[in-house]
Amino acid sequence: MTDIFDFSPNVDDYAVMGNPIGHSKSPAIHAQFAKQTGQAINYTAIHVDLGGFEQAVGNFVASGGKGLNITVPFKQEAWALAEERSERAESAGAVNTLIFKDQKIIGDNTDGVGLVRDLGENKKLQLKNARILLMGAGGAARGVLLPLLNQQPAQLTIVNRTAEKAKDLAGLFADKGSIVGCGYEALAGQTYDLVINATAASLQGQLPPLPDGLIAKGGAGYDMMYGSEPTPFMKWCAQQGVDDVFDGLGMLVEQAAESFYLWRGVRPQTNDVIETLRQEIK
Ligand code: ATR
Repeated sequence: MTDIFDFSPNVDDYAVMGNPIGHSKSPAIHAQFAKQTGQAINYTAIHVDLGGFEQAVGNFVASGGKGLNITVPFKQEAWALAEERSERAESAGAVNTLIFKDQKIIGDNTDGVGLVRDLGENKKLQLKNARILLMGAGGAARGVLLPLLNQQPAQLTIVNRTAEKAKDLAGLFADKGSIVGCGYEALAGQTYDLVINATAASLQGQLPPLPDGLIAKGGAGYDMMYGSEPTPFMKWCAQQGVDDVFDGLGMLVEQAAESFYLWRGVRPQTNDVIETLRQEIK
């Protein structure tokens, strides 16, 4: 009798769902994480029609899928679909990571921790006691508020074109730290150690109205967007003489690393992955 050994690894399926999804970097990022950590996973990108999200998730689970990343425009639907949610997902009102375990759909949000790790560990910026300005009061801004407040900044200010939205959002997080909301006109004469752009303005090639001298000497500017060229906000920072100006590529990789950790229990190294992506988008 011959012993039959099955050497084929047990490959677990993961994917990112969104619309559009064609340009997603997530499959490439997770493929690098898998190779680096020796984890046997298969990670694909799935385009989901508007109105078809729940069905698509159901199909993925039925086929044995273990986890999903969720991107625009389905993060709120993913939040609603999750049967259990982490505190950071709850506070974000959005879910970017689904875990299918013990017949349950668990929702988490790794965007905020991804931003905080990129700022703190990769860019070596001090967040504790810093004066931080967050531009924007939409989903992207809300998703990072709790992890930012957990770093205990001296003050976190949300500024938004529609000032009421910034004030409402600040109100929701008032018990979590020192946070206020305002409109752009209120920025005159203020200075911040770190200004983060979480608006959709960069996507439209636009820049919110920012006063000169907004970023303190030695301070930093961070755009959550990224691309082959600096965003309008990054260009403005450079014109203002700010030395530490960053885009959101590191955040993208760090949020992916946290999702990978949630699924696999292994934390991948991110520096080389960020560097590889940087070369690819040039
Ligand atoms: P997201 O999920 O990317 O945050 P969103 O929820 O539509 O998208 O929010 C977009 C954010 O970018 C909002 O804060 C929006 O400001 P308003 O609430 O006043 O609409 C902001 N935004 C979009 N375009 C902008 C621009 N050209 N200048 C300043 N802020 C802009």
